[in-house]
Amino acid sequence: MKVICIANRKGGTGKTTVAVNLALSGVHNGYKVLLIDADPQGSAFNFQERRLEERNASFQLVMKPSKNLHKEIGQIGNGFDLVIIDTGGKDSKAFRSALISADFVIIPIQPSQLDLWGLSSTLEILEEARTFKDIEAKILVNMVPPRAKLTKEALELLEELDLPTFNTTLGFRIAYKEAIAEGLAVFELDPKSKAANEINSLWQEVKQWVGLD
Ligand SMILES: Nc1ncnc2c1ncn2[C@@H]1O[C@H](COP(=O)(O)OP(=O)(O)O)[C@@H](O)[C@H]1O
Ligand SMILES: [Mg+2]
Repeated sequence: MKVICIANRKGGTGKTTVAVNLALSGVHNGYKVLLIDADPQGSAFNFQERRLEERNASFQLVMKPSKNLHKEIGQIGNGFDLVIIDTGGKDSKAFRSALISADFVIIPIQPSQLDLWGLSSTLEILEEARTFKDIEAKILVNMVPPRAKLTKEALELLEELDLPTFNTTLGFRIAYKEAIAEGLAVFELDPKSKAANEINSLWQEVKQWVGLD
């Protein structure tokens, strides 16, 4: 069982988008996947409801915005190859619990100066969590705008901060929004789209990182 938490204290950086697209990548590749929605707003839960209206094949989902998740994760995740925890980042007890439930943390950020500053709060909590257990973390640069200069500056800043970052970045693409609205992964909406390529590439990196066979 590999447990990945998708975390960022800041809202709207793409946590839920990344969580459901990675979870469905896992399902399409034959893994038993559990998505834990630890966000009281239940965005992943709503996605799953929308999805199940039309199709059957999906991940399992449980709603668990709980400060006790880390105590129950072994039991909840039992029998799954991959457990992905989507967080809201608001309630700090549930957020901390979600972090220490995981062995791997993906931090999606937008490539703006502001978002990089917002990172520090997430990283501080991660450092606290690391006093309990080893947790590997990687930054995922999401919503990369067509204006490449901004992105380059942000990537340089990340390099300065010395944080592990995925080689794959996700562009700002309407397909990500459309797919979510239809209860689909981007590669289901259009397998030939740029977004689909990005998610496939991210999935390969994640798979190797966490050591899924
Ligand atoms: N790469 C992207 N390109 C375009 N829109 C995106 C992208 N990633 C996320 N979004 C959109 O941005 C909004 C916030 O994303 P969401 O995944 O809900 O963030 P979070 O869970 O961190 O609050 C949603 O409307 C989502 O569809
Ligand atoms: Mg969300």
